[in-house]
Amino acid sequence: MIDPEVNRLHRRGASSNARAYTSTPSPSLVTSGGTDHSPVTPVGVEARHNEQINAVIRQLTTDGHDIPSPFSKRELYRTAASEGFEVWKPAVKDRFTDRVLDRLNYKWDSVSQTFTPVVTQELTEDIRNAAGTITPAFDTGLSASLRKQVDKWCDLHAFDSFATGAAQRTVARHGVLSVLLKAVLYEWYQRRGVVDPLSDAEPQAFQNAHERTNDVAFDTFVLDHIAELADRDELASVVAHRDRLLYSTRPAEDIGRIYAALTPNEYRQSLGQFRTPPEIAETMHSWAGRDGGHLLDPGMGAGVLSSPYHPRWELNTGPAHVDGVDRSYLSRLMGATALTLSGQSNTPHARDFLNLEPDDLQRDIGGIVCNPPYTSGDALPKEYKDQMNARLEETTGIDISARSALYTYFLYHSRSFLSSGDHAAYLTPDSFLTTEYGTQLKQFLLDEFALNALVQFDPEGESVFEDAQVTALISFVEATTDDPDGVTRFIRVDESIDSSALREAVQHGDEGETDWGFINHVQQQALSPDRNWASLFNPCDVDTSGLTPLDELVTIHRGKSTGDVDLFCLTQDDVDEYGIPEQDLARLIRQPKLVNGYDFRDEDWESLRTAGEEVWLLDPDELPAVRESQWEFNKQFHYDADSLPRNSAGEVTSTVSYLRDGVRKCGTAGANVLKTRPYWYRPRRQASPRVLVQDAGRDEFTFVLNETTARNIHNFRGFYDVPLDETELKALLAYLNSPIGQQVIQTQTQTQQGGYEKLSISALKTLPVIDPRSIDGSLVETLAGLFDELRETARESGDREVVLNRLNSVVRQVL
Ligand SMILES: C[S@@+](CC[C@H](N)C(=O)[O-])C[C@H]1O[C@@H](n2cnc3c(N)ncnc32)[C@H](O)[C@@H]1O
Repeated sequence: MIDPEVNRLHRRGASSNARAYTSTPSPSLVTSGGTDHSPVTPVGVEARHNEQINAVIRQLTTDGHDIPSPFSKRELYRTAASEGFEVWKPAVKDRFTDRVLDRLNYKWDSVSQTFTPVVTQELTEDIRNAAGTITPAFDTGLSASLRKQVDKWCDLHAFDSFATGAAQRTVARHGVLSVLLKAVLYEWYQRRGVVDPLSDAEPQAFQNAHERTNDVAFDTFVLDHIAELADRDELASVVAHRDRLLYSTRPAEDIGRIYAALTPNEYRQSLGQFRTPPEIAETMHSWAGRDGGHLLDPGMGAGVLSSPYHPRWELNTGPAHVDGVDRSYLSRLMGATALTLSGQSNTPHARDFLNLEPDDLQRDIGGIVCNPPYTSGDALPKEYKDQMNARLEETTGIDISARSALYTYFLYHSRSFLSSGDHAAYLTPDSFLTTEYGTQLKQFLLDEFALNALVQFDPEGESVFEDAQVTALISFVEATTDDPDGVTRFIRVDESIDSSALREAVQHGDEGETDWGFINHVQQQALSPDRNWASLFNPCDVDTSGLTPLDELVTIHRGKSTGDVDLFCLTQDDVDEYGIPEQDLARLIRQPKLVNGYDFRDEDWESLRTAGEEVWLLDPDELPAVRESQWEFNKQFHYDADSLPRNSAGEVTSTVSYLRDGVRKCGTAGANVLKTRPYWYRPRRQASPRVLVQDAGRDEFTFVLNETTARNIHNFRGFYDVPLDETELKALLAYLNSPIGQQVIQTQTQTQQGGYEKLSISALKTLPVIDPRSIDGSLVETLAGLFDELRETARESGDREVVLNRLNSVVRQVL
């Protein structure tokens, strides 16, 4: 008969797919106990093997627990032999090992040289099930004071209102998770004889454990009261999984994964809860915690950054102590559990890191690892943000942009915990390298740190984080009070890389291509905070020293914002419907995606018109009888319609009727833009540009020769006052659209979230370009000819590649 105990273990593990030990298809097991020679049916053989395996597992489970503690190969095979398995035969041994690991859901761990349990998906399923027994009680079972605490909890974690199903489910799941974590921690202390074996009455047991151990992770908080509403049996089946976590080889990673599986992405987004992959965490940990001092982990989450390499790794040279800080009590519990299971002495703090001061800690910090929350500046409550901004401006002495994201505040604030020579590793989005608010942060980093290495993970590749759409950057820095004069390594990681290779690159990497990416050396003193540092990961090999800034050749303006494209951009049908006269309109190139190639001609505009695109911009001269604001106009047509301008037949004029209907339909969107211009009913006037280029793009920026009188709006930049003749202008366009020109442009763009590149006006103005007036005339002619060829080829949908290659060789001659 199959042992019901073992069968239960098998059920728990059934859904896991993580079985690392190699399996070899082999003949069925042969036993040596062969006194019984009677023929056995295959079913009978199978049953006997199962029984023998169960006996092995029973022998390995020595301490009265559900599953064996990690065991070595020696223990396994000695036990197997005692149960009659011929494990000295390789095929039998492999087959036997496979079956035991399958049954138990264990894997081979090469570091501890033991077989260890896998944390199975069934655990999260059981948590969901137990949570399902809590949510019905929310309608009736919450006292007023508990309800108040839960509302506060939802607010802190930026969940929706607790009235929503998603918030209730999440709170219930987190309640069950917190019981599991406390049970695991309890077990850890129990194994050390500090507390008695865990009884059924968990809340009381945890309180006792708190008194015995003084471990704040046992603190009672709102989720404990939530978990009390769960069905006891369902909760017990969750707690029964505790040994799997207790023996985990990566507790922080396992706990982080469970948390992610139980928490909707949008909720993790609001507190910026995205965990660091373990390989990256390892490199950061070894950088910041290398001299065995005290490590600070602000925003610790499940503690993956401050956890040692392996819970049972004997040669640990990691930090003596970790102070982990997280705003969320649940994160504090997760982090503390993971660190304790890993054998890392720690003090967890449930605090807002930005309100924590160095004196609040018992120890002098010697290093920082930090993956701060990425919450954008706009998403922070205004009062909180203003307060933080003001405080950090005062302590750092710099002007901090009000647009800064939360992670930048973590970086500024963390410096006050470090002394000269201390190391820090920050994992952040790379946005500060290119954005305007990043300029002050770059200046701060240059002033306060030796920047040893910045590591960027390929923005085009898969995100380092499973669910956060950001390009990751790790800054490996050393606090200093001197003027740093060393090299900063800009390391681009295109392929996956293991932690030892990354560590080597950070500390000693030579300049140049590697198997997995690229390393660029730049003297820290040569770094300017105003420049786009992202381009230093892809240094451009074009020598631009002899080139001219674009604004020495042309004037560049951004397109005017209409304030309301629905109201001010019209199709031919709109125009016809109202009979708006052409004198009240201007021709329009509405958006970059409508321009297909390198020039824009009247025939293109005509095709767009016929295709029903918005090709007109409302552009009337002053309309004297129309009131001066949209708000007043609204009142005018409601209450004083007689004062509206009328034609000789006494009808409201067509343009004004269009405005009336448009305002009615579109409301007062864009009212701010409208307020600041002379006429609310007309976008600011701007001449038709000679050249157009889009303001943002994914791969390339096309510079389009405009051969029409059409104007553009905010989504294009335009060239005006062009002193070049036609051939010279085409030569300039040939350079700008050439692959070399595009490579130079890439050094000036700012990468937006999701890999979008933005070309700012200031970047465009300083863009290094050829000056056709100072180049040999025949080369100018050749370039202009190639531009013509390029635009014709694009128009005919031909192969641009060939022309672009020729263009590049001529541009090279010019440079
Ligand atoms: C991006 S996660 C990093 C988690 C973990 N350190 C890792 O690397 O996997 C950021 C963490 O910061 C926490 N957090 C958000 N705002 C905070 C604040 N003001 N003070 C302290 N922690 C905060 C979140 O709860 C979350 O656990």
